[in-house]
Amino acid sequence: MLRFIGTCLGLTVAASVLLGCPQQEPASAPASPGLDLYKARCGNCHQLFPPHSYTDYQWPEVLGRMQSNAGLRDEQVEQVLLYLRSNN
Ligand code: HEC
Repeated sequence: MLRFIGTCLGLTVAASVLLGCPQQEPASAPASPGLDLYKARCGNCHQLFPPHSYTDYQWPEVLGRMQSNAGLRDEQVEQVLLYLRSNN
């Protein structure tokens, strides 16, 4: 049993390193249009960065650069921003 727990912990740590903290993945947050857009548009080229990766002030700058990558309209950027800022 202890060994099983140890293995689980080890895997969790390994997964955290690989995926960037799955415990706080956006998937665990309540559903929102911003979250749906974020998952649909922002994880195609790289991992989905957890909302807490950036501050309220940094996200608009990042989104400004990623908007054309993700093909988001301005109002969609606002929705994604709302989701990120509410969960960081
Ligand atoms: C077409 C591919 C593509 C899509 C779609 C995309 N990105 Fe990126 N993203 C990149 C590339 C390439 C980099 C690294 C180089 C750079 O910074 O431009 C990057 C880097 C990042 C970074 C790392 C920090 C930084 O400032 O460079 C963040 C955070 C990020 N993207 C967030 C997002 C978000 C949020 C979305 C959705 C709105 C998104 N990305 C959609 C290609 C993409």
